[in-house]
Amino acid sequence: MGKQRVLSGVQPTGNLHLGNYLGAIRNWVEGQSQYENYFCVVDLHAITAPHNPATLAADTYTIAALYLACGIDLNHSSIFIQSHISAHSELTWLFNCITPINWLEDMIQFKEKAVRQGENVNTGLLDYPVLMAADILLYQADRVPVGEDQKQHLELTRDIANRFNHLFCTPEQPVLKMPEPLIRKEAARVMSLTDGTRKMSKSDPSELSRINLLDPPDAITKKIKRCKTDLVRGLTFDDPDRPECRNLLTLYMVLSGKTKEEVAAECQDMGWGQFKPLLTETMIATLQPIQEKYKEVMDDRSYLESVLREGRQKAEAIANDTLLKVKAAMGYSMPL
Ligand code: AMP
Ligand code: TRP
Repeated sequence: MGKQRVLSGVQPTGNLHLGNYLGAIRNWVEGQSQYENYFCVVDLHAITAPHNPATLAADTYTIAALYLACGIDLNHSSIFIQSHISAHSELTWLFNCITPINWLEDMIQFKEKAVRQGENVNTGLLDYPVLMAADILLYQADRVPVGEDQKQHLELTRDIANRFNHLFCTPEQPVLKMPEPLIRKEAARVMSLTDGTRKMSKSDPSELSRINLLDPPDAITKKIKRCKTDLVRGLTFDDPDRPECRNLLTLYMVLSGKTKEEVAAECQDMGWGQFKPLLTETMIATLQPIQEKYKEVMDDRSYLESVLREGRQKAEAIANDTLLKVKAAMGYSMPL
């Protein structure tokens, strides 16, 4: 038996932040030697909100470079760009025609984003999870490492796979593999620095709400200095009325590599004035090597291009194979 397959991706909208890193990419890196991995930059997803054509390509390369900078190892993993493989769009269309609209209307992320986009809600925003299902099912992925916010999209992916297999395959020979989400308990949902009840997000208008992976030390220092806290002395994970306290302690725990018990003991008598510099220092120390590696990768464009070319070749072979099987099962004639 070969290794199980992993697929995941991030959108090239704005910078990656600590939530993306701790909720997703760090887990890709830590698990990668156990699996055969495919990591894509999902640039087709990026146009479901108004986008800037002048920066889309550069943003896409930035995210690919950050994957490498965060430790994606090409001995175990392939990196590619979603729009370079047309099977993603094609399978989305086929899936559209077996996906009831009300499944999509129930998606929490759609409802939230639709409110934000007001009058301007496009069909792509509603269809976004079908494209995501195509991303995953094309690769017959066993595992999909994501943050907590993607759980519902994974359930929808499984529903689509089930429906397809049920409609077009025999129970003995399903075409699509059922993927499992891989969601870590710790830091699966990193919260905003300015409101501990909301998740850290690329779309929050306030830069102070998030730490970007490429933030220089002085920006990190400023953001932590200004982040929301409370007036209680002594820090704890367990008080539900102190969401900011829980979030910042969790960040410190994950970034320092200490256990929850160690952090709880270390910080129980601290005030914010003592804790904030500690968190700042730990954050800067974690991000510094990522930022250095990022610069190296970005300085060698031809290397990055070769990584993406090779990734695409490997990924495309698998994607096209699945697409052919899907079309055959649906009764399409084969191209001559
Ligand atoms: P996106 O920024 O929406 O493309 O998300 C890319 C990945 O980061 C997905 O796996 C998300 O679940 C994860 N992610 C995004 N925001 C957070 C957050 N605040 N906490 C944890 N994971 C997150
Ligand atoms: N929807 C995901 C997000 O916003 C990004 C994504 C698109 C994805 N396709 C995927 C994640 C496939 C995992 C697998 O975070």
